Amino acid sequence: MTYSMVELIGRKRDGESLTPDELAWIITQYTADALPDYQLSAFLMAVLFRGMSRVELAAWTEAMLHSGDVLDLSTVGKAKIDKHSTGGVGDKISIPLAPIVAACGVAVPMMSGRGLGHTGGTLDKLESIPGFSVDIDPDVFAGQLEDIGMVMVGQTESLVPADRRIYALRDATGTVPSVPLISSSIMSKKLAEDLDGLLLDVKVGSGAFMKTTADATELATTMVDIGASHDTPVTAILTNMDQPLGEAVGNANEIQESVAVLRGEGPDDVTELTIRFASEMLMLAGESDLLSAQARVEKALDSGTAFETMVRLTEAQGGDPSYIEHPERLEIAPYEHVIEAPHDGWVSSCDAFAIGTAGVRLGAGRARKDDMVDPGVGFSIKAKIGTTVTKGEPLAVVSYRDRGKLDSALATARDAWSISEVPTTPPDLILATLR
Ligand code: URA
Repeated sequence: MTYSMVELIGRKRDGESLTPDELAWIITQYTADALPDYQLSAFLMAVLFRGMSRVELAAWTEAMLHSGDVLDLSTVGKAKIDKHSTGGVGDKISIPLAPIVAACGVAVPMMSGRGLGHTGGTLDKLESIPGFSVDIDPDVFAGQLEDIGMVMVGQTESLVPADRRIYALRDATGTVPSVPLISSSIMSKKLAEDLDGLLLDVKVGSGAFMKTTADATELATTMVDIGASHDTPVTAILTNMDQPLGEAVGNANEIQESVAVLRGEGPDDVTELTIRFASEMLMLAGESDLLSAQARVEKALDSGTAFETMVRLTEAQGGDPSYIEHPERLEIAPYEHVIEAPHDGWVSSCDAFAIGTAGVRLGAGRARKDDMVDPGVGFSIKAKIGTTVTKGEPLAVVSYRDRGKLDSALATARDAWSISEVPTTPPDLILATLR
């Protein structure tokens, strides 16, 4: 069947629903280069304003999922559970999380992304470990999953090619923040991984794509529903992203902080989320309750098996494991600048969006698609919401290489902190859990 794209765009623009066949046709045609970018862009903008019904979203996600290969991990004799974050600042949770869960006997086929906008990416962080490769041979994927219990890789070329192309177009046409488009993008990729369960960290706040709890709840519910319609249990946890997670924002410094978590020496917020997420992933793999799941997670941390798993993973993926044993050896940029508190008081904001944007200006992320990431630059956040500071005390220490980039980063970062004259309290880290 052939349709007129102009007509389909017009119907969506006017608020009508399209049929599953029409939606599948759009995906197939676009993936086959038979529709021009301008027509798909117009369609995506119409979806952004008009949304999609549940039936439309199911058909659109299904068509994306089958636009390429899907993994077959049936030879792996363990439950396969992945985790995905909708993106944040200082969000390194996946890095300590995956080895903990793998050390508990669950397979984690983790496919992550690169930094997007002001948010950091797990792949960029892992690549700051010398030699670490995030492209592994598809033939060793299942074997490594069985043997070490985890892989940490980028999306393969053949998995959900429709998303790769549509995502790039959305990034360039202002059509990222749409619940149906985000949920179909994330869920089509995750469903293509042949999972037994998925944990979603849906970030809410200034540093997240979803700024309000209401929007994040809608996104989380939509993704839980898509999982249910594909017999894949999904747990979605809404977490605060008004301020960065942990102290480190960057790449190499986030690996250092991840290793600290595996050694039981990480910052409280990162450790709390990591333990909770790992426990939830064990529940998705069949553990009966959160308390027993947490006991297993703590044992994997205390016994050092989670740390050992990270060492083995690094070695298996070509990285030099001595940087996990001695993360202080990772190269950090040579110059430091201290951002000082302008007066005494209580920190009332430590804006994740401003710090994430400043991180990109410093070189920790990309302003353009093919920019190189500098693994050694970044922030060490010293004052978070609820803490007291005195005039001149460090709010953050910036590691930088280039004075011009530092000045550009500071223009944004300086406004990230507000200091109040009355006491403030830290925001709740976990806002809701949806199953
Ligand atoms: N992450 C994705 O994979 N897709 C989106 O649309 C947004 C975040």
